[in-house]
Amino acid sequence: MLSSAYGYLQGMKRVVVLLLITFVITAAKPQKVIFDHDGGIDDFVTLLLLLSKPELVSVVGITILDADCRVEVAANTTLKLLHSLGFKDIPVAISTLPAINPFPDIWRWSGLAVDVQPLINYVDPNSLNQNLVQQPGQDFLWELLRTQLEPITIVATGPLSNVAYILTHYGDEAAARIKEVWWMGGALYVQGNVDYPGHDGSAEWNAFWDPAAVGVVWNSSVPIVMVPLDVTNRVPVTPDLIYRFGRQAGHLYSVLAGTIWSKVISWVYERPHEPYFAWDTLTAACLLSRQLCTRVDDLVSYAVVSGPSQGRVVATNQCVAHSSEVSRQRTTAAVMQVDAEEFYDFVLEALKR
Ligand SMILES: *[C@@H]1O[C@H](CO)[C@@H](O)[C@H](O)[C@H]1NC(C)=O
Ligand SMILES: *[C@@H]1O[C@H](CO)[C@@H](O)[C@H](O)[C@H]1NC(C)=O
Repeated sequence: MLSSAYGYLQGMKRVVVLLLITFVITAAKPQKVIFDHDGGIDDFVTLLLLLSKPELVSVVGITILDADCRVEVAANTTLKLLHSLGFKDIPVAISTLPAINPFPDIWRWSGLAVDVQPLINYVDPNSLNQNLVQQPGQDFLWELLRTQLEPITIVATGPLSNVAYILTHYGDEAAARIKEVWWMGGALYVQGNVDYPGHDGSAEWNAFWDPAAVGVVWNSSVPIVMVPLDVTNRVPVTPDLIYRFGRQAGHLYSVLAGTIWSKVISWVYERPHEPYFAWDTLTAACLLSRQLCTRVDDLVSYAVVSGPSQGRVVATNQCVAHSSEVSRQRTTAAVMQVDAEEFYDFVLEALKR
């Protein structure tokens, strides 16, 4: 009697220990993400940040859109960065989806300044293509989602075209495979950053590049966390920030990040009223550190799909009348505040690798 009670207790102990081990393993498992970017200078610092925290996120694939870049150059650079840092098995795919409103050519070529950096060019060019996927990026995005066991988070730092494509083609089945889309996009209570003939300036560029894609994503049930201009306007890339990377130049990730961001320094004097912001890097930082960014979860908004405000995301507590096509109204989360110094410190600390 006594011995069976003892055996029972021992058995329970074992169950508890096993449960604890399972819990620890589950808790320590990094979150899988797909990085859907568009090859701007800032996208590459964002890649470094995502790779710098393998205990928190695991990048299972990268898709690149031909938006704020020349996509063949951006793929080159992405592969060189991955190979330089020892991530030769992350697949990279190039989307073939076209612009509705293309980015200015001068911005699209700016990524070349990163591609030519000696620091990432000691890798053997012939080995680079081993993880370049032949399938178009938009189809590969679906392939990645379909073959994962659990729904995956997409970090989208360019237009929403690839996400919209899979929602259009695979509907609810696709929506169910996406955990969340963290999207750098939209301008809610601030001016947009589009200066384009016939446009009223209310839209943010990623949304304006493919306004219909925003409409498709807004009409879907996919959970969205927006990182709009409202909050990215707080985090300019300043000379001081770049100097700080130099002070920790013993770390490869810091040298790379400082070098990459140094390519935008001429904006500081060429466009004093329109700084270069850490748009995309903030998006990844908020995903990695929830306490860094203040987020609201009940923002109701809709997207304007056509006409002079196309690409605008309108919070429904603003009173705007539109005659043009709009998406349905839906609830999303949105990051609305960040302390710039805390953000800079976080990125600098993360990139001490
Ligand atoms: C990619 O980089 C290689 C050097 O590693 C260069 O020769 C080639 O022209 C680049 N291709 C593009 C499309 O930028
Ligand atoms: C989204 O839904 C609205 C109706 O709520 C409709 O008018 C619009 O055409 C839809 N847009 C897209 C891109 O599916």
